[in-house]
Amino acid sequence: IQLAVELEKLLRTCSESNREGTEREFGGFRRLFVRFLLDPTSSVQWEKIEKLPDGAVCDYEMLPTPASSQIRGMLDKLVVIKLNGGLGTSMGCQGPKSVISVRNDLTFLDLTVQQIENLNKTYNANVPLVLMNSFNTDEETQLIIQKYTKFEVQIHTFNQSNYPRINKESLMPIARNCSTAADMEAWYPPGHGDFYESFYNAGLLEEFIKQGREYCFISNIDNLGATVDLNILNMLLNPGEDAGKPKEFLMEVTDKTRADVKGGTLIQYENKLRLLEIAQVPKEKVEDFKSVKTFKFFNTNNLWVKLPSIKRIIENGTLDMEVIVNPKTLDNGVNVIQLETAVGAAMKCFEGSIGLNVPRSRFLPVKKTSDLLLVMSNLYNLKYGSLSMSPLRSFPSTPLIKLGENHFAKVREFLKRFATIPDLLELDHLTVSGDVTFGRNVSLKGTVIIIANHGDRIDIPSGAILENKIVSGNLRI
Ligand code: UTP
Repeated sequence: IQLAVELEKLLRTCSESNREGTEREFGGFRRLFVRFLLDPTSSVQWEKIEKLPDGAVCDYEMLPTPASSQIRGMLDKLVVIKLNGGLGTSMGCQGPKSVISVRNDLTFLDLTVQQIENLNKTYNANVPLVLMNSFNTDEETQLIIQKYTKFEVQIHTFNQSNYPRINKESLMPIARNCSTAADMEAWYPPGHGDFYESFYNAGLLEEFIKQGREYCFISNIDNLGATVDLNILNMLLNPGEDAGKPKEFLMEVTDKTRADVKGGTLIQYENKLRLLEIAQVPKEKVEDFKSVKTFKFFNTNNLWVKLPSIKRIIENGTLDMEVIVNPKTLDNGVNVIQLETAVGAAMKCFEGSIGLNVPRSRFLPVKKTSDLLLVMSNLYNLKYGSLSMSPLRSFPSTPLIKLGENHFAKVREFLKRFATIPDLLELDHLTVSGDVTFGRNVSLKGTVIIIANHGDRIDIPSGAILENKIVSGNLRI
């Protein structure tokens, strides 16, 4: 009740034109808040987790390739959605993450637009690109997408919700005004699970259904491996007679390695396939959750969802996603929590959900500058906005790279430290720590460890070839 009073007060500070939208968003926030009060941890009952049934996860390699005559018709039924609400702060950038240059001065957004334009040109199709922005990313994204007006891609955007951050102790909103501009820290975009309602509220879901579109392909904009895959689209649209129930929701999963133990996994629970995130795991079961034997797959967040099914679930009020509680400390030291949801958590609300075990190449996220080093290097080739592993690499796995937090974490600092990106084709493992710079045309092979002690600097000279080498202290090579 107290929350309702506070929300009412906030609503009174809204301009007339924003009131209706804000009221609707507050409805969503209230539902999430109630769920949080009823079940603050969203923990699963461990003993209720069942073994994945046969056929719950299909193998990508088994999918047939569609005939080229079918492709244009299939693409008419597709919408591509990129989750673009996030900022580049973890890599030291201001503004939307999608505007960071990742390769040949092209940003995540540029690469996405190129990929879809290429698809449209190749098949004479008109696949639209939809960006889900947040109040943090919308303004800059709108300016940037103007440069794509002449491209053969229709771009639509919509904004996800703004929810009020709540004080950790009192559980009441800290905002005094409903304008995010007046107090940015008091508001937040509530995770990508907000996609369904915001897409519906924006009217885009209805518009695409009316156009006869059937599926959307949703992915993180920072996953460079998330390209439109025609075999997957074909599996959904032309499932064949013995395929069982139509698939309303497909989650691309990939084999979990020990480096991925924190990612969400697929489980069978209460007769449904669902996403299990580490936040929902009881403390004493976290080690079990991390096991790559028990939980073999993890969620890439590449999802294919049937559009009319989203409409049904929203209109029937059966959308139900676990609450993720994200604690933060504001600049003024106040502890707040923000309640979020994950887009994959809706899987259990759909009929005929399925996992698809895809090759690792469909999961190429750029979360840190070490990922950036990989995708900028000669390990990958770029064609029409898509990256693929260079055939010159003799084994398919990517090298393990660790770059020091103090000198390499921010994109600008990172870029200053490489005169050119080294040759990584034969690299297995690279660790760099401290004040280290790289000259032009350096080659790194095998395992290379470079550690500059505090107060020292190591400059790797142009043309150096480091193979299975440790460089440390103030040694020069
Ligand atoms: P995250 O920052 O959540 O990445 O953004 P993550 O750490 O890999 O988390 P999960 O495992 O996917 O949850 C993932 C994508 O979702 C968008 C970001 O812009 C990014 O593309 N995103 C995130 C939103 O669009 N809205 C949000 O509220 C949060």
